[in-house]
Amino acid sequence: MVIGNGLLVSAQVAQFKKIVGEQFVLSDEESLNKYAHDETENLHYLPEVVIKPRTAEEISAVMKICNRYKIPVTPRGAGTGLSGGALPHLGGVLISTERMNSILEIDEKNGHVTTEPGVITEVLQNAVKEKNLFYPPDPSSRGSCFIGGNIAENSGGPKAVKYGVVKDYVLNLEVVLASGEIIWTGASVLKNSTGYNLTQLMVGSEGTLGIVTKIVLKLIPLPKYDLLMLVPFNSLEKASEAVGAVFRAGYIPSALELVEIEALQISRRFVDNTVVPLTDDMEAHLIIEVDGNYPDILMQEMEAIATLMGEYGAGEILFADNAQQKEALWKLRRRIAEAVKLSGYTIEEDTVVPRAALPALIRGVKALGKQFDFHAVCYGHAGDGNLHIRIKKEGVQGSLQDPEMVKGLRALFRLVHELGGTISGEHGIGLIQKEYMDIVFNDTQLQLMRDIKKVFDPNNILNSGKIFDAQ
Ligand code: LAC
Ligand code: ZN
Repeated sequence: MVIGNGLLVSAQVAQFKKIVGEQFVLSDEESLNKYAHDETENLHYLPEVVIKPRTAEEISAVMKICNRYKIPVTPRGAGTGLSGGALPHLGGVLISTERMNSILEIDEKNGHVTTEPGVITEVLQNAVKEKNLFYPPDPSSRGSCFIGGNIAENSGGPKAVKYGVVKDYVLNLEVVLASGEIIWTGASVLKNSTGYNLTQLMVGSEGTLGIVTKIVLKLIPLPKYDLLMLVPFNSLEKASEAVGAVFRAGYIPSALELVEIEALQISRRFVDNTVVPLTDDMEAHLIIEVDGNYPDILMQEMEAIATLMGEYGAGEILFADNAQQKEALWKLRRRIAEAVKLSGYTIEEDTVVPRAALPALIRGVKALGKQFDFHAVCYGHAGDGNLHIRIKKEGVQGSLQDPEMVKGLRALFRLVHELGGTISGEHGIGLIQKEYMDIVFNDTQLQLMRDIKKVFDPNNILNSGKIFDAQ
């Protein structure tokens, strides 16, 4: 009997059930629908079967069958991705890591944690925090995303500006390859010049090279204090100019976020926030946090940064003076993506430019909006030059469907490239950005990537058609 769109036959499904247990192989309509989307636009692709393995060995056995019969496999974490990496656009098998959700060891002596991929990022952060240790990468979705997905996309978040992104913390990975073989990519050490860096090749490879089943992360000591302020500007461009000044003056904040007023206003309605007073007649705000172990020094830093912001025309600064206000402000910031999407900004871009080019990028975005008839609201990790651009265009739901929108996005990405930047800072390429890869890579570079893919996955079954088209 043929199932779904015919990529799977019932004998294979029976084998999957034998490997992981009958109740962990799903093909009912409701389950398939649940795994048909992530957070990317309005995209929806049904897998033929959803498999929920518990161990690397089970994934290995499943992969051996899929490899033998050339069945497409889509690995999936929590489905919070914004580039369509976890969408099963070719049907076939979807492997969810949700049952692989144990933190295996917190090694306090070495400052490492070993975890399975299906652990929620914030759960991991809280677990190590109890030991006074810190795992900084904190995407806005940290309360629901999985650490495995963060590795697949090389996620960032607000703290990246001081502490770096996921790649800076991954020491070693256990990976199931397309062939079903299980390997470790390196060693759980802080330095490693031993051959090619397979660990870093896996980070950000979006499930196209292997399925990560164990992760060893570096931890750092937990900073004891932080201070947070909200700085209003009556010009978005001026706010973006002020960003560079902070670093030039010798400070590295633990967060430096830029948010256009409309994004904050929409988010405020969404979270029903009353604790953070917003200056509505301003164009943009910077959210600036400093952290460390010495409150006096932090206070001095905060004051010096505040004075500097005044030189760039900042309005009245709000210093979040208690834990509740800090939490409310961060909540307001973290919910923006979800809130603006629900209010019609359905297309999200994740541009990144050298920090000093931010004002030019912002000017360019607004000009392109006029030229291509779209409305853009900007927010993001300005300290990293990483600007999320949310786009609303009358009658257009997604970036893939509308030729005018595609033209507009090509123009945007060409601008980003001209400014020395690239098309994704932390969300990945996945399904929706692949048609723009030619703007930032030439044929030689793209061919090298395709050749690497071939070495790892000669039958092209693992998340095929993500990052670039299959060849
Ligand atoms: C954020 C996500 C969308 O910064 O990356 O909110
Ligand atoms: Zn972000």
